[in-house]
Amino acid sequence: MILASRLALTTALLWFVAANLVGLLLGLGVLPYNWRPAHAHMQLLGFVTLMIYGVAYHALPRFRGVVFRRPGLALFQVGLANLGLLGMALAWGLGLGTGIWGAFAALSLAAGLLFTLLALEILWG
Ligand code: HEM
Ligand code: HEM
Repeated sequence: MILASRLALTTALLWFVAANLVGLLLGLGVLPYNWRPAHAHMQLLGFVTLMIYGVAYHALPRFRGVVFRRPGLALFQVGLANLGLLGMALAWGLGLGTGIWGAFAALSLAAGLLFTLLALEILWG
């Protein structure tokens, strides 16, 4: 398994634990309600999406019967996805403002786009 897959799967699990904790504290009223989108995206962009990235980098080349040619770029993509989500979640939760939120959301968007291109290259390249 390439490092990008291991890192994506490991961080997906960490996001899962953190998001569940935020969800619990949110439901109990310990955290204010502006943590709701943070919780939702820690689950959906953190746990679910990173889990998909990790599995896809491992499985797609094998489904296609090719060698994955860009493990370094995939590692960069996983780092970008984590950084973007961390900033988005903190900006939402702590109310850091649209400017900071937007900068990190742009990183998340770039990570999603890069993953799409890498996956398309595996499928069609
Ligand atoms: C220990 C597990 C969890 C707890 C304690 C928890 C708790 C919560 C709470 C308190 C809310 C806010 C509900 C409200 O609007 O009043 C919420 C919303 C949400 N949760 Fe969770 N949650 C958990 C697991 C999950 C998981 C596993 C997912 C998805 C993979 C998830 C996805 C969402 C989403 C998308 C929302 C926003 C829903 C909306 O827009 O109204 N949650 N959760
Ligand atoms: C670059 C990536 C993404 C950005 C920038 C983004 C942005 C946003 C924004 C601004 C909202 C409104 C939050 C609010 O109520 O204040 C939202 C809500 C939501 N998004 Fe995303 N999103 C992204 C990715 C995703 C993905 C991948 C999923 C699902 C797999 C998702 C599921 C949801 C859901 C369920 C809600 C409603 C949750 C709530 O009301 O708290 N988003 N998103």
